[in-house]
This record gives sequence, C-alpha cells and structure tokens, in this order.
Amino acid sequence: MNIGKRLTDKVAIVTGGASGIGAETVRTFAAHGAIVVAADVQNELGAQLVNEVNEAGGKAIYRNLDVTDEAAWKELVDETVSIYEKLNILGNIAGVSGRDPNMKIQTTVTPGPTIESTSCDVWNRIMDVNVKGVYLGTKLCIPAMRAAGGGSIINISSICGLVGSFGNAAYHASKGAVRIFSKATAIQHAGDKIRANSIHPGFVDTPMTKPGHSNNEVAKIRMDATPLGRFGVPADIAMGCLYLASDESSYVTGSELVIDGGVTAH
Ligand SMILES: NC(=O)c1ccc[n+]([C@@H]2O[C@H](COP(=O)([O-])OP(=O)(O)OC[C@H]3O[C@@H](n4cnc5c(N)ncnc54)[C@H](O)[C@@H]3O)[C@@H](O)[C@H]2O)c1
Repeated sequence: MNIGKRLTDKVAIVTGGASGIGAETVRTFAAHGAIVVAADVQNELGAQLVNEVNEAGGKAIYRNLDVTDEAAWKELVDETVSIYEKLNILGNIAGVSGRDPNMKIQTTVTPGPTIESTSCDVWNRIMDVNVKGVYLGTKLCIPAMRAAGGGSIINISSICGLVGSFGNAAYHASKGAVRIFSKATAIQHAGDKIRANSIHPGFVDTPMTKPGHSNNEVAKIRMDATPLGRFGVPADIAMGCLYLASDESSYVTGSELVIDGGVTAH
C-alpha cells in the first residue's frame, strides 16, 4: 500500500489556491506527492501557503493569476510545462460569491441580491470569475494535458449549481454553468484521456462563507438544512478533489460529486 502518495509524480495547477478550499487542496495534493502550482490573486497568502507546504516536505510554487485573463493563463501553463515538463491536473477552484467584498456580517438570508436588484456589474463579475475562469483554465490547460497523455480537471461548482434559493441567482447560474461545462469537457476530451468532473460543496466554513456564518440566524438556517449537523471544512472538499485527481477515479468523468452533509438529499 502506498498511503500518502496518491498523486506521486503528477503536476497540478490549483486556482483559488491561496485561501479556503483551494489552499487545503494545495496542501492535500502536495501531501500526496504532486508538484503543485498554486494560483490566486491573494499573493501574500499564496506565498505563505507554499512556504508552509515546502517546509513540510511538499513541492509547491505560488503564481499570481487572475483567472479571467487569458494571456495570464497561457503564461502560467507555459511556465508550468517549461519548469516541470508536464501538466496532469487542473483544479478550477477560484470563485466569488456575489457578496459585497467589504461585507463583514451578512444581514440577509442569502448572500446575494434578488434578481430584480442584481446589477449587470454584479452579474458580469460573478460570471467572469466563476464561469469564464473555468472555461479559460480548461481551454489553456487541455493542450498540455493532451501532450502528457491525459489528465484530470476538477471544477468546483456548488449545491447552488444543483438547486435554487431565494437570492443570488447569478451565483446559482454560474455554478450551474460550471456543472454542465464539466460534462461538455468530459465528452469532448474523453478521447484525449482527459477527465472532467464537478464537485458540489454544501456549506463549508471558509473566508467566503464567514459573513454568512457570522450571522446566527443565517448560520441556524444553514445548519438546520444540513442533516449531518455540522458545516463542512475545506478538507472535506479537498479529499474529493484528491480522489478525482488520482488514478483511483480513472473511470469517472462527467460526474457530479456532492459533498454537502446531506443538504440536497432533502
Ligand atoms: N465555502 C462554501 O461553502 C462553498 C460552497 C460551494 C462552493 N464553493 C466554491 O468553492 C470555491 C472556493 O471557495 P472558498 O469557500 O474556499 O472561498 P475563498 O474565498 O476562501 O476562496 C476563493 C479564492 O478564489 C480567489 N479568487 C477570486 N477571484 C479570483 C480571480 N479572478 N482569479 C484568481 N483567484 C481568484 C480568491 O482570492 C480566494 O483565494 C469557490 O469556487 C466557491 O464558489 C464554496
């Protein structure tokens, strides 16, 4: 048995890799033998994280990447392949919730506005990061994965990509798009031995959900909706990423991995 080395010799790019679920996925991939390129726009946090990983014996570098920037994606993939000679795994984890970035405590039941009060700016920002970012990452990483003989693309959708709620329709729409884009990728690139799957987290404690979970009323509604009776932690989702990144899931593509404590079992 080879415990702790489920990704030996694999090279991974993980977006949103400085915080929350992305940061934990960087740690987990590195702990299982992958070389990880963590990419994000939070440079200080990203640099701290890769120091921590490298000091613990893993292999990771951090690079600034705005996932909405096609030229920056090309540069990142080219650099990754020129340093490590291949690319096997892409974790499209970067995302935005639709909350005002300055919000400390969410005062409404859902993080985002109703459809009628959603501005085009908010709509476009959510779609840009959550959908265009996944499309660009996929598009730019596929040639390198094909050259490597195949690969695994893991796209973080959400339970919001499976069901609707009272607000934040732009976020729901973006995560629904990620779900179906993953299936289109799976079909178009099965012949390249590139697998693509979506993960659908429920309510996970991260900086993204802090404003919501800091409001007792919101936290109670979310907890009451979660049969397992706790919020997720980033490691719950990172373990799903690990499975989909590893060869253990070599027959899994176009699938949806729901990790939500039972929320959508209702
Ligand atoms: N936390 C949850 O309950 C939950 C539930 C379902 C889905 N998700 C999804 O999980 C993913 C990770 O979220 P999280 O909860 O860890 O939140 P987080 O805020 O801790 O992490 C998101 C990361 O994405 C980065 N990011 C944002 N815009 C970017 C851009 N343009 N380019 C590069 N990086 C960018 C942020 O800097 C941040 O580091 C997101 O896609 C989110 O929508 C989270």
